[in-house]
Amino acid sequence: MRISLGAKPLCYPQNVFMVATYAEDGTPDVMNAAWGGISDFQQICLCLSASHKTVANLIARQAFTVSMATAETVIPCDYVGIESANDVPNKFEKAGFHATKSELVDAPLIDELPFALECKVQSYDPKTGLLFGEIVNVSADESIMDGNNIDLSKFHPIVFDAVNSGYLTLGERIADAFGCGAALK
Ligand SMILES: Cc1cc2nc3c(=O)[nH]c(=O)nc-3n(C[C@H](O)[C@H](O)[C@H](O)COP(=O)(O)O)c2cc1C
Repeated sequence: MRISLGAKPLCYPQNVFMVATYAEDGTPDVMNAAWGGISDFQQICLCLSASHKTVANLIARQAFTVSMATAETVIPCDYVGIESANDVPNKFEKAGFHATKSELVDAPLIDELPFALECKVQSYDPKTGLLFGEIVNVSADESIMDGNNIDLSKFHPIVFDAVNSGYLTLGERIADAFGCGAALK
């Protein structure tokens, strides 16, 4: 028997995106965002409450970066999801993060988070909270690379379990994508 859980914004796995921006005075900010995903080849869509300082920042600067939260940084990544720069303007610094300006968009990359999308704002609708951003570049620190590939033994992105309100690491590789299903062709 299937149990109905109701109309809720639940899926597995959910991302743990770190959305980073500069305030108008140049102070970096970052927030945690679980509701969002890739919406086209060079586009990301996020659902962001209009009350967040992040939203004011990205509207003013027309840019943001999206880094993946990691197992090593889970405490600061959660912290930036429960504290607003509207109340604590130096929350980025309090989290222990260090910013390096993206060379391509007017937004900070986070030195402690090695994989990030650099994005320009395409649109933001304050009624729905839907933000669409153009992915201008994806950058990764060489410390997590094996040649041209991301090496998941060196990079540990986490996922969000909204039902149980937790963060989890990724599991083992179990099969080849675009490949293992061929057994049924
Ligand atoms: C696990 C987690 C997921 C979150 N996902 C979202 C989200 O998808 N959209 C959103 O608007 N806020 C989300 N938040 C809340 C913001 O991160 C939070 O309100 C933050 O303090 C906003 O910071 P800012 O005001 O400095 O931009 C999430 C928080 C946590 C802890």
